[in-house]
Amino acid sequence: METIQLHTKSRPSTVLCGAGALSEAKSFLQGKECFVVTDSNVLRLYADTISQTFPGASVCAVPAGERHKNRCSLFAILDAMLDARLHRSSVVVALGGGVVGDMAGLAAALYMRGTRLVQVPTTLLAQVDSSVGGKTAVDYRGVKNVIGAFYQPERVFCDPLFFRTLPPREIRCGLGEIVKTGVLDPAVGDMIKENKGSLRDLSFLQQLAAACVRFKARVVEEDETERSGLRKCLNLGHTTGHALELMYGRRSHGEYVLIGMWLESHIAEREGVCTPAYAREVRSMIALALPRIPAFPGAAGALRYALLDKKNEGQGTVSMILPKERGAYAELALPADRYAAYLALLEDPCR
Ligand code: NAD
Ligand code: GLY
Repeated sequence: METIQLHTKSRPSTVLCGAGALSEAKSFLQGKECFVVTDSNVLRLYADTISQTFPGASVCAVPAGERHKNRCSLFAILDAMLDARLHRSSVVVALGGGVVGDMAGLAAALYMRGTRLVQVPTTLLAQVDSSVGGKTAVDYRGVKNVIGAFYQPERVFCDPLFFRTLPPREIRCGLGEIVKTGVLDPAVGDMIKENKGSLRDLSFLQQLAAACVRFKARVVEEDETERSGLRKCLNLGHTTGHALELMYGRRSHGEYVLIGMWLESHIAEREGVCTPAYAREVRSMIALALPRIPAFPGAAGALRYALLDKKNEGQGTVSMILPKERGAYAELALPADRYAAYLALLEDPCR
């Protein structure tokens, strides 16, 4: 098992990655008052694991899925916390994918202005990315993650035992954030390219997840609240990805990140941010996770969602993080009409 420390200013955070992490969670939480937040799918699969690992804990299950990442679920969690008479030293345990992690994290930040928080991520995406670094949020009025807070979990326990029940779609979803990290961090990029055939092998995915957490930990330590700009790099592919996710739903977050990176690699190439050869290299890495980019009829309509992206600073411009060269990225703000013309490439990506 690997231990990764985040020396973050607000509160240090420790991530444990590997087989046995859930047993470590059990030891860490023994004797503490725990409040487990999960979702309906995870509860169905892991009810026994939850009761054996956290005996006596209150359990609150929200309906599964991104469309329930909203204020109703958030307030349902807060209501249940109040009903359970939690106090500030109680521990909220977010046991689920990124949706549960983001909402339970926000509830922990809000309740009595902050209770203790532990993350037990159960999807590949959550183990690779969302459980680490303290971003918490819900979607609101068609804007992704617009209500949120930075709130570091004191511990994150990433146990690969949860991978065994993940459907292929959720593995592909996690690969989205893994490929994103591979574009930003040459060490992860090389691991992906040198092990193309093992990208669905659960023990290799566990190694990749730990490598992604090591990279994210370095970024978050340096720019915990995305003020200096470094943390923005983690948004690669997300401007377009989030806009499509809000407009079309259906696919997973990670798939939209892959599709967003595909389009944004074309933008980087055509805007002269990177060479055509490097853009092709990025697309070949994307293809390892998502061999065919689907068509999105009316894709230019996603502009209205991209205009609401948190990175935008000017009126009528869309800001995005683009691949520049190996291990480097650049931020670019495009006028809305120019960005909409690029979005139209998604109407027929095979062209
Ligand atoms: P998710 O939480 O919706 O989980 C995906 C599906 O898998 C759900 O149906 C869930 O019930 C199910 N599931 C969870 N664990 C399972 C298991 N072990 N076996 C079988 N099924 C299981 O989605 P996700 O992909 O984990 O997370 C996406 C969310 O994370 C998005 O809302 C995104 O905005 C957010 N996110 C946050 C950050 C951050 O830094 N906070 C980073 C990336 C993504
Ligand atoms: N997933 C983006 C971030 O954590 O900043």
